[in-house]
Amino acid sequence: MTGTTSTADAPAIRKGLVGVIADETAISKVNPDTNSLLYRGYPVQDLAAHASFEEVAYLLWHGELPTTAQLAEQTATERASRALAPVVRDAVLALPTTCHPMDVVRTAVSVHGANDPQAEDSSPEAEQAKALRLWAVLPAVVALDQRRRHGLPEVEPRDDLSYAESFLWLTFGEVPDPVVVRAFEVSMVLYAEHSFNASTFTARVIASTLSDLHSAVTGAVGALKGALHGGANEAVMATFEEIGTADRAETWLDEALAERRKIMGFGHRVYKHGDSRVPTMKASLDELLEHTGRQDLAELYDALEAAMTERKGILPNLDYPTGPAYHVMGFDTPTFTPLFVAARVVGWTAHVMEQHAHNALIRPLSAYAGPDQREVPER
Ligand code: ACO
Repeated sequence: MTGTTSTADAPAIRKGLVGVIADETAISKVNPDTNSLLYRGYPVQDLAAHASFEEVAYLLWHGELPTTAQLAEQTATERASRALAPVVRDAVLALPTTCHPMDVVRTAVSVHGANDPQAEDSSPEAEQAKALRLWAVLPAVVALDQRRRHGLPEVEPRDDLSYAESFLWLTFGEVPDPVVVRAFEVSMVLYAEHSFNASTFTARVIASTLSDLHSAVTGAVGALKGALHGGANEAVMATFEEIGTADRAETWLDEALAERRKIMGFGHRVYKHGDSRVPTMKASLDELLEHTGRQDLAELYDALEAAMTERKGILPNLDYPTGPAYHVMGFDTPTFTPLFVAARVVGWTAHVMEQHAHNALIRPLSAYAGPDQREVPER
């Protein structure tokens, strides 16, 4: 249950922190009334159309789009930091192949952080450098884990590819068609930042204790894993597989709603009239499905969306188009949420730096609902 409860002598409880403005941020602005999302003032759909993911990362971290020289410097560092340190590789390979890839990413972030030469340096320069190194290495972690689960050998990083191309190269051992690369890059831009969502807020809570950047990101990965947040993109694909074909969508939905199941990839805490990022990702998905000849998936997508809109008036969120997009790109379903991590780590680390720059310990109150004070019985 979400909502506000209060009594005459007790302050209101905002269950789920619904509607609570916890702090200011200059990083992004979500406007549910106009279904818009701005990164540092720029509409996200314009950035997706005209900027690379690397430029968007620079923008989110520094507040402005990079000059050519600034982008070249960031790119050189990122490309030089793509390889896994042996201690991180060993940690990934030590985990069972049956564990969830988000557990692998969470562990790898923690080990990478402990191994970072500036681990305990919280100066703004060190935090920026750590954010860049962590962002740079995540594709190798995610790709290594998917490949080992399929019995495939690791792929050597290349320094002549963009971030998106390199991610696909490390995962598949080839750079796919530009349509695929573009759709993947668009998804990264759209996933990069979204104000005080659950995982970002988790990162800010941890940062507010003056804990370090990697601890904050490790916690954020844990928050993102849940099905009500980032885990929904995997669950969308599971839904599509369960339904099978477009002609079964309505019946499936009616049964699922009768069982009071949540339909993954639909609804949003902030957007109640549609998610600002969906039209951009849907356009990329359409291109991808056309390119890969997956008309069946396009029909299923439309059929479930139409039925959900008609039955509940609840619209898709970004995880709805990214799920099938990642599927046709060739990622296995458990890898979807780790892809979200590699994008959102930019937003998380920008928020950690903002929190540290204007810190106040985040420590809300609770209303006690347990027994009245009582005596410990004789024992
Ligand atoms: N399927 C079925 N019913 C839904 C859904 C859904 N996906 N979303 C909301 N509802 C219903 C609720 O059951 C509730 O109905 P009720 O009033 O009869 O109980 C009503 O709509 C209001 O929903 P809330 O749960 O109060 O909405 P809230 O803002 O708390 O939840 C959330 C938002 C968690 C995203 C919810 O819509 C949901 O569970 N969606 C599915 C998971 C998902 O796709 N998460 C991804 C989020 S976006 C992202 O991470 C990129």
